[in-house]
Amino acid sequence: MRQVDLHTPEHPLILVTGGMGYIGSHTVVELLQSGYQVIIVDNLSNSTVKVLDGIEKITGIRPYFENVDCLDYVALDKIFIKYIGIQAVIHFAARKAVGESVEKPLLYYRNNIASLINILELMPRHDVKHIVFSSSCTVYGQPKPEDLPVNEQAPIQPATSPYGNTKQINEEIINDTVHANIGINAIMLRYFNPIGAHPSAEIGELPIGVPNNLLPFVSQTAIGLRGELKIFGNDYNTPDGTCIRDYINVVDLAKAHVVALQRMLSDKMEEKVEVFNLGTGRGLSVMEIVKTFEQVNNVKVPYKIVGRREGDIEQVWADPTKANTVLGWKAQETVENTLQSVWRWEQKLKIKREQQIEESKLSE
Ligand code: UD1
Repeated sequence: MRQVDLHTPEHPLILVTGGMGYIGSHTVVELLQSGYQVIIVDNLSNSTVKVLDGIEKITGIRPYFENVDCLDYVALDKIFIKYIGIQAVIHFAARKAVGESVEKPLLYYRNNIASLINILELMPRHDVKHIVFSSSCTVYGQPKPEDLPVNEQAPIQPATSPYGNTKQINEEIINDTVHANIGINAIMLRYFNPIGAHPSAEIGELPIGVPNNLLPFVSQTAIGLRGELKIFGNDYNTPDGTCIRDYINVVDLAKAHVVALQRMLSDKMEEKVEVFNLGTGRGLSVMEIVKTFEQVNNVKVPYKIVGRREGDIEQVWADPTKANTVLGWKAQETVENTLQSVWRWEQKLKIKREQQIEESKLSE
């Protein structure tokens, strides 16, 4: 397969940390399809090396991959030396399970904060000027009713989990570092709830163990891996009593990174740090998601209503006007198509599992 050459100005070289993960892998695909060269740095703590095959099947290009932990400053330094000419970093690598962060806060603080510090220290040493950072709508906490939908001016609320706190601290670290005038600028993208898989079903979300997030749990229940979905609370102050989120298609989200990068590389930024909400602008309840999933895929999702999940926010959805107007990016995909992509991916995973069982039988 084609390996593009380094050092070509028309194919800028981008370092993508966490590029084997869910949002990272979809972004790598969009970058490659837009002509960028990509080096993935990932420690495979929540992904597998097979993701590279999926990326290659879709794009015809196998990106560079380095199995390196962003906590390892020396190893990361060597990456910048090996791939001379990196133009920008997109930093996804982070832990992201809210519940786990409550149980293991230091794991989250060390991983999510020290990784970013390493990258920000290494960037000026290697003359890299641009960073796109994966932030989250979690920084808004539960917005006041008058602040819904939330725009980027909505107040940042005290974090409700160590995970959320790491995102807030990361944003502060980036702000302080950029304003210290070391020649870096940053775009921070606040994601709402990314869902779905690539339409090719070659890549998608790969939760290890019991999923925390709604959609993998829904699709694993529909395919029979889980007995029933637990819906956490139907006594919220929402039309059907279940929580409301802004579910955004992961490919749409990935495309926003390419647009953000183009803005940075073509010197179009108006401020040294820019923040954008990435959502659809539409809030959907848990029950609406479950019912739509059942309907568009013609499957049943057995569920029961249980008590509220600690730390859950009642309702939040985005005002994406700034991303729409300033970035010229808009979420395009319908929720129906997105939920179909989730199901196609879950079915693909089932086939892969069955193949693995067959192969292991043959090798016995
Ligand atoms: C949260 C954060 C998000 C972060 C993500 C990382 C907020 C508002 N959102 O997403 O920024 O990136 O964690 O994981 O802080 N649900 C069920 N049953 C389940 C699973 C989920 O009913 O088995 C419900 C939840 O109660 C929630 C909705 O589904 O209402 C979405 O949950 P989830 O997918 O976990 O995402 P958030 O908690 O919104």
